[in-house]
Amino acid sequence: MQILILNIKKLVQVEEKPAKWKAGNEMAKLNTIDNAFLLIKDGKIENFGPMSDSPNLSKLPGDVLIYNAFDRMVFPSFCDSHTHIVYAGSREIEYIDKIKGLSYEEIAKRGGGILNSAKLLAQTSEDELYEQAMVRINEIIRKGTGAVEIKSGYGLTTESELKMLRVIRRIKETSPLTVKSTFLGAHSIPAEYKGRQEEYVDLVINEMIPMVAAEGLADYIDVFCDKGFFTVEDTERILMAGIKYGLRPKIHANELDYSGGIQVGVKYNALSVDHLEFTGDDEIKALLGSETMPTLLPGAAFFLGMIDPPVRKMIDAGLPIALASDYNPGSSPSGDMKFIMSLGCIKLRMLPEEVINATTINGAYALGISDTHGSICKGKVANVFITKPIPSYEFMPYAYTTDLVETVILNGKIIN
Ligand code: NIG
Ligand code: FE
Repeated sequence: MQILILNIKKLVQVEEKPAKWKAGNEMAKLNTIDNAFLLIKDGKIENFGPMSDSPNLSKLPGDVLIYNAFDRMVFPSFCDSHTHIVYAGSREIEYIDKIKGLSYEEIAKRGGGILNSAKLLAQTSEDELYEQAMVRINEIIRKGTGAVEIKSGYGLTTESELKMLRVIRRIKETSPLTVKSTFLGAHSIPAEYKGRQEEYVDLVINEMIPMVAAEGLADYIDVFCDKGFFTVEDTERILMAGIKYGLRPKIHANELDYSGGIQVGVKYNALSVDHLEFTGDDEIKALLGSETMPTLLPGAAFFLGMIDPPVRKMIDAGLPIALASDYNPGSSPSGDMKFIMSLGCIKLRMLPEEVINATTINGAYALGISDTHGSICKGKVANVFITKPIPSYEFMPYAYTTDLVETVILNGKIIN
C-alpha cells in the first residue's frame, strides 16, 4: 500500500541528504516546502516536493491511498531520546511532598523517589508491567512520537533489571514505535547497599552487564552520575565494562551539580549526556568537537522547579541540542513532546525552529538513528504526523496545550 498526501500546507523538516545533526546557528534553520506532496511506499519516504511535481496517479502502480491534507502540515514524528516509560504505579504522593517543600534529594534520602518505584516494580509481574507501559506507549504515539529510548533502572536487582529490559524488548516487538533500550542498573543505590556503594557497582559490572549482554537486551548503557548518586569513578568503571560488551554510553549528568558527568560522558564517547542543568564553560568546552549530543529535559526541570540549563550559551558556542521528555514517575510524568517544544520556547528561550530541530533530527541522533529517522528525507522510515489545520509551524509550540496532532503514520501505516 502506498500513501499519497496531497496539498500539504507546509512540509516541515525536509532534507535532501540525511544530516548528522543540526548544531549552532543551523539549529535556527528549518527547511520546509509550501503546498507540497509526500509519497510513502513500503514503509519508507519515497518522494516529496511541491504540488506542481506531484506524481500522476495513473502512473503509480498498485493500491494508493490518497490523503488530502488541505490546511494541514506534515512533520517528521518526534524522536524522544530519553524516557523511563516502563514503571510500576505512580508517585503522586511525593508530588504532594514536593508541593509542601521537600526537594528531590530529600525525598530520595527518605527512601522515596527511585527506590519507591523499585519497590513497586519488584511487586509487579512482567505482564502487568507491560500492560501499564503500553497505556503510556499508546498515549505518546497519539501525541506524535515515532521513536523512543526506554531505560531500565527501577529494578536495581539483577532479576528486576532483566524483567524491565524484557518488557522493553516486548514493546520493541509489539508496538509500531522504533525503540532503543538502555540499561540503567546504576540509577540509584539500593537501600541494602547503603554505605557499600562500591559493592553495588561491582554487582552492576560483574553480574548485571554480562547477563544483559548475553540476552542482547540493551543497545546503550546509562549511569546517573550526580551528587548523591554515582561518582565519576563509579561511572568510569561501569562505562568501561559496558563498552566491552558493545554498549555505548548515554548518561544522566549534571542535573543536581557540576558532577563531572559531562566530561566523563565525552571521554567515553557517549552518544548523549542528558539533563545538564549545571553546565559551565568547562562543560561546554568538553562538548565542543565531540560526538556527544547535549540533551536537555525541560519537563523534569519544570516539574521539579529546578534551574534551567544555559541553552542559549550552548547554542551560541556552536553545540547541537536535543530535547527529550524524560517520561518517568518522579520528575516528569509526561511524554508529550509538543509540550516539551513549548517548554523549550517558554523556559529555555529557544526559537520554534530550534525546538523542532531539537525534538526531531537531534533527538534522532541521540537515539542513534539519525540516518533513518528525524526528518522528511527520501529513503528514511515513513514516521510522520499530519497536524490539524494550523496557521504556521510556530503555532505548534505556541498553542501549548492544544492537541494538534490529527493523523499519525508510523512505518508507512496510518495508526488509528
Ligand atoms: O531522569 N535523574 C534521574 N532519573 C530520573 C528520575 C527518576 C525518578 O525520579 O523516578 C530523571 O529525572
Ligand atoms: Fe532520566
